[in-house]
Amino acid sequence: EIREEVERLLGIMTIQDKVGQMSQCLASNFSFGGDVESDPPEKLVAEGKAGSILGAFDINRVFELQKIAVEQSPLGIPLLFNADIIHGHQTIFPVPLAWSSSWDIEAIKRACAVSAKEAAVSGITYNHGPMVDITRDARWGRVVEGAGEDPYLGSLLARAQVEGFQGDSLFHEETIIACLKHFIAYGAAEGGRDYNTVDISEGTLRNVYLPPFKAGLGAGAGSVMNAFNIYQGVPLAGNKTLLKDLLREELGFDGMIISDYGSIDEIAIHGAARDNKEAAKMAVDATMDIEMVTTAYLKYLPALVEEGTVKEEQLDEAVRRILTYKFKIGIMDDPFRYVRPELESEYHFSAEHLQESRELAKKSIVLLKNNGVLPLQKDHGKIAVIGPFGSSKDLLGPWQFSKYSDKTVTLMEGLSEKSSKKETLLFAEGCLADCEIEGGLEEALRQAKAADTVILALGESSGMSGEAASRMEIELPEVQKRLAEEVSKLGKPTVLVLTNGRPLVLEWFERHMDAIVETWFLGSEAGHAIADVLFGEYNPAGKLTMSFPYKTGQVPVYYNHFNTGRPLTVKNQQEKFISKYLDGPNHPLYPFGYGLSYTTFTYSEIELNQITMRKDDAIQASVTVTNSGSMSGEEVVQLYLQDLYGSVVRPVKELKGFKKIHLNPGESEKVTFSITEENLKYYTTGMSYKAEEGEFKVYIGTNSKEVKEAAFEFIG
Ligand code: IFM
Repeated sequence: EIREEVERLLGIMTIQDKVGQMSQCLASNFSFGGDVESDPPEKLVAEGKAGSILGAFDINRVFELQKIAVEQSPLGIPLLFNADIIHGHQTIFPVPLAWSSSWDIEAIKRACAVSAKEAAVSGITYNHGPMVDITRDARWGRVVEGAGEDPYLGSLLARAQVEGFQGDSLFHEETIIACLKHFIAYGAAEGGRDYNTVDISEGTLRNVYLPPFKAGLGAGAGSVMNAFNIYQGVPLAGNKTLLKDLLREELGFDGMIISDYGSIDEIAIHGAARDNKEAAKMAVDATMDIEMVTTAYLKYLPALVEEGTVKEEQLDEAVRRILTYKFKIGIMDDPFRYVRPELESEYHFSAEHLQESRELAKKSIVLLKNNGVLPLQKDHGKIAVIGPFGSSKDLLGPWQFSKYSDKTVTLMEGLSEKSSKKETLLFAEGCLADCEIEGGLEEALRQAKAADTVILALGESSGMSGEAASRMEIELPEVQKRLAEEVSKLGKPTVLVLTNGRPLVLEWFERHMDAIVETWFLGSEAGHAIADVLFGEYNPAGKLTMSFPYKTGQVPVYYNHFNTGRPLTVKNQQEKFISKYLDGPNHPLYPFGYGLSYTTFTYSEIELNQITMRKDDAIQASVTVTNSGSMSGEEVVQLYLQDLYGSVVRPVKELKGFKKIHLNPGESEKVTFSITEENLKYYTTGMSYKAEEGEFKVYIGTNSKEVKEAAFEFIG
């Protein structure tokens, strides 16, 4: 039925009408620059020059523009309303890098469902998320938006986020269209510099960067956004090989492809097109359906069709996809069905949503070091909170537009709710995130001296990660390091509580702090969640999804690297002609999958039910995990495989499964993973996707480094 309706409409549309549907306009001053229309959105919509809107943050604005589209535009086709709902709409959840550390797929899915619900009742119908780029380079600011360095975990989270945003049916009024971004390999920008050149092999593209997209498509994502980078010299916005051949034909994607902001014009700036007209042709030839905000389509598509360089059927295909989604979400029959102001007050920042946010925030915290100072005891004496993040509300992170940001729970607020006597809690800011304040250091030292325990609240401000926020040195700003050095000279038990959006270099802190708690940007309930963990009301169980290097010079450093021909081993450390640094280790300070608990877990050796595997077999690999400490807690038991040799080289380890278990002190659980041929497949020579015969190692452990080991052979 939808198909017939779409064809009927297409039949009466002019070329201008079609190009209008393929163009998006901006309804706020949240602009990234570029060649945009100077006319206001009201005029563009009335003239039929926009099929979707970016940045209508207010429900009244959505209503106004939709009314104009329906009543004044030539065909009265309703608009899609797009927004970046990355980790919450009004209730803000932890940033994605943080929530990936929870390894809690269901909780992340719920966070996306809550975000969709809050956004949808405000009229937003089309999300610019999830961001499913694999991120191996911590200098890149956008690592904060993704699920880290691992394709397997990244795939599970891509699927969960799409399912959370889109629910069971896009027709449901509390869901939004998910958009997988940024297709593809955006995270491989050279030097970690945003928008920079990408030059990687097809094997890496398919084995590392593609899996989360495949998973998101499998979950039915309605849209994909292109990346800003080039691949094999061709900018993604006009890359026919990747958008048309790979995404559409090979992977069967028939949803909407939207350009990232300005990326069609940038085809010419990259130097892959003579001008924006040629860029528009490249984009449409690559099956790009919607141009985000810039105007190459509006300006040049009509002429390109007129001249015969672009076929009208190409526009038809794009518009068919766009209209199909407009029908699917129900706005063609009821354009205002998502405009529900009466529900905004019920849903936005509701107690229930805040509770979800707090739960996920607790689970996202990673305990990096603890010599026993944590959890803080009830009779903890005086605590001094020192540092720029002690009473800051800058705990939401990039990509949030919440009207409730001033209600963010600070660390001091969270702690003071737990402290019976307020006078036991002291505070001094010491410095700002990136500059000194007059007298700040002296006051900080005065407060720290008066305390029994010091909590150093340091980190990166939210502007230091996210889009266009790459850093050369991933250290804490100098002024904060100086503050930490001076405080640590006092010799008090000191806990570092970090707020940040990327892995940081923490070598000095690892040596000088008694405990290190990685809290990222935890969202609206940050202070409560951190206090829950510091006081041991929640036993931390988060595990890193990106490796933390010793030094920035090691970056990119990731666990699933290749072996090289001269790998560093325990035995050859002193040899010269080895793949190693002269001035530091190869391995990171904290590896992928790492995170401590207030209890300890011991692992038995691995048991395999068989040591050879045929095509349709499944090998069962088991370990028994015991809570050997004195507190109940959760543990993420991780399964890795290594294909010892292949037609092309294989990573030294690849995550292929995990289970999050809860154990009381003294309790044990047998955890069993089923390994099938599917787990062994990869894109090998000629890009065929298959498992190859040979020997495999199985590793199971508490992180990617500390593992038990077994082996089997795949005999096909
Ligand atoms: O969605 C984003 C994208 O990730 C980066 N450029 C701007 C867009 C705005 O919606």
